[in-house]
Order: sequence, then structure tokens, then C-alpha cells
Amino acid sequence: MIRIPSYDLSAHNTFGMKVKCALYIEYSSLDELKALLAEDLPQPVLHIGGGSNLLFRGDFPGTVLHSTIGGISFTGDDDVIVEAGAGVVFDDLVAETCRRGLWGLENLSLIPGEVGASAVQNIGAYGVEAGDVIDQVFCVEAATGEEVVFSAADCAYGYRDSRFKHEKGRYIVLKVTFRLTQKYAPVLGYGNIKAALEGRDLEALAPSDVRDAIIRIRREKLPDPAETGSAGSFFKNPVIPREHFERIVASVPDGKVPHFDLPDGLVKVPAAWMIDTCGFRGAVKGGAKVYEKQPLVIVNDSGSASPDDVIALESDIIAAVRARFGVELHPEVEHV
Ligand code: EPU
Repeated sequence: MIRIPSYDLSAHNTFGMKVKCALYIEYSSLDELKALLAEDLPQPVLHIGGGSNLLFRGDFPGTVLHSTIGGISFTGDDDVIVEAGAGVVFDDLVAETCRRGLWGLENLSLIPGEVGASAVQNIGAYGVEAGDVIDQVFCVEAATGEEVVFSAADCAYGYRDSRFKHEKGRYIVLKVTFRLTQKYAPVLGYGNIKAALEGRDLEALAPSDVRDAIIRIRREKLPDPAETGSAGSFFKNPVIPREHFERIVASVPDGKVPHFDLPDGLVKVPAAWMIDTCGFRGAVKGGAKVYEKQPLVIVNDSGSASPDDVIALESDIIAAVRARFGVELHPEVEHV
């Protein structure tokens, strides 16, 4: 176990904010976690994963917990249950399952973060969400130290949503199992995946081929976390009623608005398009900047952006999109 008071969290938030917590603790087993939960820790307690979806608004007055419970194991032949510890780097899991020829996680390649958080956030990309392939989530209830197992149905997964987000801090994820398969099952319907596989025999694809294509697509659009601080998409994509969408179409000179029809007369309009249309591509506030290649992402461009810089840019964007389109953008990144 690692336990450090007055700890600098720069390396634990991909935005690269220079903030501190009163106490930082890293544990590596269920027994260590149970012992910690029985202690009188500085409050509040925040459990983090890779810190890739967090914006610290300033120093954190309490305890930050981080799991390093590792291990990946495989059960079954054709249909395989893969078990991974909460502290496993999510993309290491994806790389390993693809290497073994297992379908299910390949579209989630290169998403930063760890396995525990993937089950909380219901991370998603290119037509697949973690909740589609999660079998069970093994947790500890923070207040009681009791172990609880949730089926995927119990987790109430939705777009970037789960029961764990509504009961923040109640459960701590220990490990997650995923249902994967050796049987050919690519998901190629989203956007430009097929274009990225141009010239390939789609019937002869392996999971690693799709993984490679997804990695190429992401590298073109998203900042490299090793070089530029960000937390990926900063806002969720809004879903609006069709009448509202028609009004937006009528208000745009060329009448062209990218959109995706959903059931129940709802339409999803990319937040990136709205932000771009409001003129924010490349906009700067202090050290924070709207990423040029993908306006849904706010980057710590200078490396010295403060939480206030990011929050000021966020407020400007929300206000401009509200004024121009009557749409309320909601952050995807968790504010702490
Ligand atoms: N869309 C579809 N079907 C398609 C293509 C796009 O429904 O075939 C929708 C998307 O759901 C979205 C919009 O069209 O509403 C724009 O899609 P785009 O591919 O441009 O993605 P994005 O909105 O920029 C989202 C995620 C990304 C994820 C990509 C790829 C959010 C907030 N962001 O971004 O996630 O990698 O789709 O699937 O949903 C992140 O969460 O940090 C992140 C990078």
C-alpha cells in the first residue's frame, strides 16, 4: 500500500492540473481496501481510476483512493468470460483480448483509463459501449465493507451513464468480467470505420485489424494524452426533440446540420458541430484551448492551464450554444 499526505495529483489527471489532495492512498487487494474503509480517513473520499475523465476545480481537501488490483484471466473456449482487476489499464485489456482473437472490446481501443472506471462511466466509442459486453461488476460497498456483485442489467447502463454515477461513492469496483467471443462479430456500422478498412476483405478481419483501424481514426482526431493534457470529450452529445432540431436546421444558412435520428422522435446533434458553429474551434482562455481537430475536446494547451481557465472556457461555450441553438450542453467530464 502507498500512502502519501499532501500529494500532487498532476500525474493522476490527464488534464495535467497541478492540484493536491490531503491524502493519497493506493491499495492492491480487497483486504487492504476493507482495512482502509474501516479507518477514519480525511473526508471527503474520492476514488479515482486513470484520472482521464476528471477536472479538479482546485485542491481536493480529502482522501484520494486508487486501486492497483491487477490481473486478467480467461474462462471458456468460443464464448469467453474475461475477468480483469479494477486497476488494469483498459487499453492493455483491449490489446490482450484482441491479441487472443477475442471480439467485443476492439472498438474501445485506445480509450484512456482503467477497468474499474470503464464500468462506472460506461465508456463508449465507435458504436460499442462497455455495458454491451460487461457480464458482472464486483464491488465493495464503501459504508459496510460488504462485497456486492452486479449483473450488467443491475448496472442500469445508458449513454455515459450507470447506477454507479447516481450513487456516487457508494460502491468501489474490485473487478469486472466481460463476455467476449472467438466467433466473428465485428461492429463496423459507425461513421468512418469501414473507410478506415478500405481494401480489406471484411469477412476475413481479425479483432486486431479493427483495433488498428480504430487507433488510426482516434490518432487523427484526438490529442495524444502523452503530449497534450485533456480529458477527451468535454461535453456529452445533446439529444433534442425533432421540432427543436427542425428549428435549428431552419436557422442555418445552408440548412445542413449533422445529426443522427434516435427512437421516439429524438435527434442527436453533435456537440462538436454546435461548438464549431459558434466559432469556438481553437478558442483560447488563459492556458485552456478548444482543440482544433475536434472542438468537443478542451486541451491544456500550454501545460499551465488552471482549473479556472477551463471552467471559464466551458461557461463561454455553454452560454454561446444556449444563445445560438437553445440547447443546454452538459459536461461529460466529471468536475471535482
Ligand atoms: N454518430 C452516430 N452514428 C455514427 C456516427 C456518429 O450516432 O455512425 C453520432 C455520435 O453518437 C455523436 C455524433 O454522431 O453524437 C458525432 O460523432 P463523432 O464520431 O464525431 O464523435 P464525437 O461526438 O466527437 C463521441 C464520443 C467519443 C468517442 C467518439 C467515437 C461523446 C461525448 N464522445 O465523440 O468519446 O470516441 O464518439 O465513438 O460521446 C470521450 O468520451 O472522451 C470520447 C472521446
